[in-house]
Amino acid sequence: MHLKRVLITGGAGFVGSNIAVALKTHVSGIEVVALDNLYRKGSSLNLPRLEKNDIKFIRGDVRNPQDLLQAGKIDFLIECSAEPSVLAGKDGDTDYLVQTNLYGAINCAEYCRRNNAGMIFLSTSRVYPIDPLTNCRLIEKADRLELSDNQEVAGLSSKGVSEEFPMAGARSIYGATKYSAEIMLEEYRQAFSIPIVIDRCGVIAGPWQFGKVDQGIAVFWLASHMFQKPLKYIGFGGTGKQVRDMMHIDDLVRLVLLQLEDPAKFAKGVWNAGGGRNISVSLIELTEICRRITGNDVQIGSDPQTRYADIPVYISDTDKINSFCSWKAEKSVEKIIYDIHEWLNDNPEACQLFK
Ligand SMILES: NC(=O)c1ccc[n+]([C@@H]2O[C@H](COP(=O)([O-])OP(=O)(O)OC[C@H]3O[C@@H](n4cnc5c(N)ncnc54)[C@H](O)[C@@H]3O)[C@@H](O)[C@H]2O)c1
Repeated sequence: MHLKRVLITGGAGFVGSNIAVALKTHVSGIEVVALDNLYRKGSSLNLPRLEKNDIKFIRGDVRNPQDLLQAGKIDFLIECSAEPSVLAGKDGDTDYLVQTNLYGAINCAEYCRRNNAGMIFLSTSRVYPIDPLTNCRLIEKADRLELSDNQEVAGLSSKGVSEEFPMAGARSIYGATKYSAEIMLEEYRQAFSIPIVIDRCGVIAGPWQFGKVDQGIAVFWLASHMFQKPLKYIGFGGTGKQVRDMMHIDDLVRLVLLQLEDPAKFAKGVWNAGGGRNISVSLIELTEICRRITGNDVQIGSDPQTRYADIPVYISDTDKINSFCSWKAEKSVEKIIYDIHEWLNDNPEACQLFK
């Protein structure tokens, strides 16, 4: 597909800014517009980077359809704006979360309809319900929990969670906003023949992520090692054995570029995208990697109490996307942490946020 002008909502965020820069680097003649309300602490630090790469920035809000109009005529939209924390909304005020993650995504789809444009939606593994992921069969190893191959739930194996996983049950308010958005986007796809691609991502990590304890764990953990701040293993007995798969931002960017070549081909169903079993890590293992790369030991406390919406293991089973096209995540957890370390070493301004 020959793209002329692409709008990236949440374009000053971690994922949005990296996709924006990659598009300018890899697609000749493309115009890229990044729209962001700079809600996320740290996103404003991406603005000079966007400018340097000749990406037009609009300070705007996806909750307001009028703001999207400022982007002018587009032929594709990549929706990366969100309140992405799984703890968001838990203290009672769900307004911002719902308005941004659900209505914002619908406003984006509506803008695509009016522009006859395609869309990629960055969804999340958090759409999968919590109970069956908490009560599944786990094997406890010395440094991590593993998913057993012998599960009662469909779509679950030692390879992780596939798109066949049953969708009934609570999934966190954050997960529900993203799942509701998926459902609406599916309707937009069907009713208006818009090529809308839905990628359900596990943990994404890499440079230019302004990670915090509840979102962006890889950066948060590494930065805490760099700046010698105490950490805590929280939940599941406080042993640090909980596991996530991780996808380097470069691997996600590669997938998005591939999908942009032929969006219609990918505009059906949903696609799990993540590091998979081979690129997964427990907190204990992450500590060891951070220790090796920074040379620093930090004090690690323990809180056995499991937090709201937390799950012991999440691994993306990516067999569907792997067999559909040539894409597979490649960069290891070590490489992810190494690249974040390099980025922070080169960017003292970014470091300030973690000190
Ligand atoms: N980072 C991950 O591990 C991960 C995993 C799965 C899915 N995702 C999804 O990927 C997308 C990007 O996440 P991210 O990690 O880059 O988060 P991020 O917080 O770095 O980026 C999101 C951007 O959206 C902006 N934003 C928030 N509310 C907005 C609004 N109302 N209008 C306009 N802009 C707004 C923020 O300022 C921020 O720059 C999100 O949709 C998230 O749900 C992220």
